[in-house]
Amino acid sequence: MSQRTLVLLKPDAVRRGLIGEIIGRIERKAGWQITALELRELDQETLELHYGEHKGKPFYEPLVAFMSSGPVVALVVEGERVIEGVRALAGPTDPIAAAPGSIRGDYGTIVRENLIHASDSEESAIRELKIFFPGLS
Ligand code: TYD
Ligand code: MG
Repeated sequence: MSQRTLVLLKPDAVRRGLIGEIIGRIERKAGWQITALELRELDQETLELHYGEHKGKPFYEPLVAFMSSGPVVALVVEGERVIEGVRALAGPTDPIAAAPGSIRGDYGTIVRENLIHASDSEESAIRELKIFFPGLS
């Protein structure tokens, strides 16, 4: 089933010069297409919408501060089972638990600075794509 997912390369990925490395891993996956891409800074309103499910949790405020500490790269990736696929490329949330070979396993440091966001379900993808790429049909 062809799907669309929202991917964010977080400020740590941009600062550390890992944009090319991470996008390369996505591009090397046969059958996936990058159909939108933008470098941008995220305002509080966008982050509140995007991370609304985590509001009130102890890591929420530092997470929002981190996510607005520099530009991110937002991408739309399309392809067969791409939602599950990019999550697998990223690895688990906590880089310490992420296996070598995954993006977070290879480059992640602490849980907050884990380089990449990828939508976790079809519902999340639809919701998040509307926030970041409202013009998408
Ligand atoms: P979450 O949606 O649980 O993880 P994922 O990005 O894998 O979907 O959490 C969102 C982000 O919040 C996560 O990427 C990093 C940050 N975070 C923390 O800083 N501390 C935590 O304990 C958790 C669970 C997440
Ligand atoms: Mg999540």
